[in-house]
Amino acid sequence: MKLHVEPATRLLNGTITIPGDKSIGHRALLFSLLSQTPLRVTGLGDGADNGRSAKAIVALGATVAKDGAAIRIAGTGLDGMRAPAAPIDCGNSGTTIRLLCGLLAGQRFQTTLFGDESLSKRPMRRVIEPLAKMGATITGQGGGATGVDVTPPLVIGPATGPLRALDYRLPMASAQVKTAVLLAGLYADGATTVTEPGPSRDHSERMLAYLGAPLTVAGRATTIDTRGWNRKLSGDSFSVPADPSSSAFLVAAALLAGAGEVRLPNICVNPTRTGFLDAIAAMGGQVALEDQRADGPEPVATLVVRGAASELRATEIAGDLAVRSIDELPILAVIAARARGTTVVRDAEELRVKESDRVATTCAMLRAFGIACEAHPDGFTVEGRPDRPLEPGRVHAEGDHRIAMAAAVAGLCASGPTVIDDADNVATSYPGFAAALSQLGAVISQG
Ligand code: S3P
Repeated sequence: MKLHVEPATRLLNGTITIPGDKSIGHRALLFSLLSQTPLRVTGLGDGADNGRSAKAIVALGATVAKDGAAIRIAGTGLDGMRAPAAPIDCGNSGTTIRLLCGLLAGQRFQTTLFGDESLSKRPMRRVIEPLAKMGATITGQGGGATGVDVTPPLVIGPATGPLRALDYRLPMASAQVKTAVLLAGLYADGATTVTEPGPSRDHSERMLAYLGAPLTVAGRATTIDTRGWNRKLSGDSFSVPADPSSSAFLVAAALLAGAGEVRLPNICVNPTRTGFLDAIAAMGGQVALEDQRADGPEPVATLVVRGAASELRATEIAGDLAVRSIDELPILAVIAARARGTTVVRDAEELRVKESDRVATTCAMLRAFGIACEAHPDGFTVEGRPDRPLEPGRVHAEGDHRIAMAAAVAGLCASGPTVIDDADNVATSYPGFAAALSQLGAVISQG
């Protein structure tokens, strides 16, 4: 599928309902499987990645039924899962495969997990290593030679007894690895602790605590201690707030094209996810947070952008801020392309192992619009061009949803039409993206 984008000629306007947060959606599905009680899940997004987790829990014994606009999930509890009849297809979804590794590490049956071309290249040693230390058996492809990582398909288990508790220091800030180890910790005797080097998203901690997991957080260390626990998780419902990572594309569109008023209600503003708002504020962009409230364990707000495209300045994104904006760095790079000065992104080596090598694909995307962008091992440098429109781009999205959507927003700032090839995977996180941008008044079509 291609996206065709025309330069913006008028201010964007309107209110958009952004689909449910992808990270929270995966957890609502996978954690409901572990619950003794059925859960009602509201607000789940319609992206293909969450669909993979939904199919996976059904293969493992859950039932999922429509309940009006919500779904009702009857799980199996911790110890009632059944062996899936066939290998589980995780599609494009790193969160599905890595969280399943943790959840399946302690099961008494064997499971095979596989994915699409992109997922088949993504590194899995980061989950296999700690889980193997806990006594799990997980094998994948490759991994023999120095520097070569283990990749899917993965074969997990069967476990022959309880896992061993582990005190683990994560080598990188990764919510997926953290969550996999904590889930395996539910199947271990004793206290499993994960300590992370940076503030990765903490939805798992919030949601597992809601279900009554024996979980404590002390600074960057999270512990599951199963000693004396009755091995029961239960709850009534999960509400999935709107996805801040998807909202970032529309926020950027409104800032760069200018807005009468663009309102994005019910966005998850968990501080582990709002690095992009802090980076935008540092660049001089104005995004208001209105109607702030709690939605279950998560804080939410309406994001509002008003006013003509403002003067933006370059910034530096590094350290904890890079972790807190890791999925938004491609769209922040587009904002940087319109800001005065040189923006530097550092400490973001994790970008190299996302759905594409996002250091390389972000730089290639910006260069297609005539922007000078230099790749570094752990990030990139963008030379902003605020005084002239971008050159009309022909971009190959390399099958990466966030590169395709970032390029579409860049296309609004170009001097002529932009074409984005290989954009099908927009559907992994935000199938309605092009429709939402059109609803705001942009000229974009897919075909
Ligand atoms: C996610 C964690 C992040 C993020 C990904 C979703 C999650 O990955 O980039 O899009 O839901 O846990 P890492 O855990 O690999 O940093």
